[in-house]
Amino acid sequence: MINTRPAFCIPASLKYFKYVLVLLVFIISTKYIVLHTDSNHIECGCELQSKRNEYNSEFNDSISPKTNPETFSINQTCCIPIFNGQYILNNVRMCSKSPSPVNVIVVVHTAPHHFARRQNIRETYGARKLFLPTEVRVIFLLGRVDDQTLQDRILGEHFIFGDTIQGDFKDAYHNLTYKAVMGLHWVSHYCTEVKYVIKTDDDVVFDMWKFLKEVYANNLYVSKTIYGIERFQDLIPRTGKWAVPFNILKGHTHYPFQYCIGFVLIMSADVIIDLYRASFKVPFFWLDDVYVTGMLRHAVGGIEIIEHCGNLTFTPSSWGLNCLQETLYTCPLLALGLNKPRSYKKAWSLIKKRNEK
Ligand SMILES: *[C@@H]1O[C@H](CO)[C@@H](O)[C@H](O)[C@H]1NC(C)=O
Ligand SMILES: *[C@@H]1O[C@H](CO)[C@@H](O)[C@H](O)[C@H]1NC(C)=O
Ligand SMILES: *[C@@H]1O[C@H](CO)[C@@H](O)[C@H](O)[C@H]1NC(C)=O
Ligand SMILES: *[C@@H]1O[C@H](CO)[C@@H](O)[C@H](O)[C@H]1NC(C)=O
Repeated sequence: MINTRPAFCIPASLKYFKYVLVLLVFIISTKYIVLHTDSNHIECGCELQSKRNEYNSEFNDSISPKTNPETFSINQTCCIPIFNGQYILNNVRMCSKSPSPVNVIVVVHTAPHHFARRQNIRETYGARKLFLPTEVRVIFLLGRVDDQTLQDRILGEHFIFGDTIQGDFKDAYHNLTYKAVMGLHWVSHYCTEVKYVIKTDDDVVFDMWKFLKEVYANNLYVSKTIYGIERFQDLIPRTGKWAVPFNILKGHTHYPFQYCIGFVLIMSADVIIDLYRASFKVPFFWLDDVYVTGMLRHAVGGIEIIEHCGNLTFTPSSWGLNCLQETLYTCPLLALGLNKPRSYKKAWSLIKKRNEK
């Protein structure tokens, strides 16, 4: 912000110049340190490449997914659908009625009462007009709510925008996997011509221009890939908020497969139908990102996880806003997570600015 910087142009400040200079050096160095330490939280794949190689030689997950049956076995006889196509609200024509084929669909996991967050997305990276001639669309995934007043508002929103999809399962934190599988079902049934599927959470700011310029235009992820922040050999939490019951992944202390942190995923569209089909075989597991990008991906086989550094990185932490503010044109972020509406607007205006040329 301009007004937090010392006003060098005022002559009176000149006699304090050396103090200002010392202060400035101090500010810059602390900012640098803050940036530097925080940047470790980006979990950049290139930095962790050696860890990944080590991991791969043990489990060799992404290369030959089905060679290690004891590490993770799937009950092949199980055929209970996680999501069976029961929608309360749907829009089956969103993609088919498009004047030209939809190229990119953004699938947003959203909480039912987050009307403002959905509106933010509609006006930013979900705004079709901003990205033409590339056809970008957004859908918001919701579950069932008990509160009738809330449901009436959701209905009203649906009739105005037609971009909210509501599945017939209770919208709850431990039910996010239903939502994720509903997204797979929806795209594989109603948006079949799409090339990329971008899954985000409703607090994510996504630089669609950068994506179109650097990923889409270069055909970076054309088939059988999931692009996200990769995790490998994470400890399975057995207690606390994220606790996984002991009978699931029994005998394992660490996840025996790689997965991605779910806040932003970019998927080549050809993985969607395979992942959806696999959901009939892989029993329910409530951590949706582990379920989809770990278990389902593992069950399908041959789907690679790609994690880029350089220009195309993500961060779920508030460090992202600093990155945009400090180094707008060189900030490598493609997406960041921000749940405060003011930070969201600020981040988007910076993203808009860096794409204006
Ligand atoms: C994984 O297994 C394949 C053979 O299935 C082998 O060629 C490759 O070198 C292995 N990769 C690693 C990282 O060990
Ligand atoms: C596999 O799933 C079927 C159907 O849900 C169930 O009856 C069977 O007990 C399961 N087998 C194992 C080993 O979990
Ligand atoms: C998840 O959804 C199912 C189906 O609607 C429901 O029975 C269950 O109680 C929900 N789970 C939670 C934690 O609310
Ligand atoms: C990375 O970003 C810079 C600055 O925006 C741009 O000039 C460069 O082409 C980008 N690199 C790739 C590989 O897209």
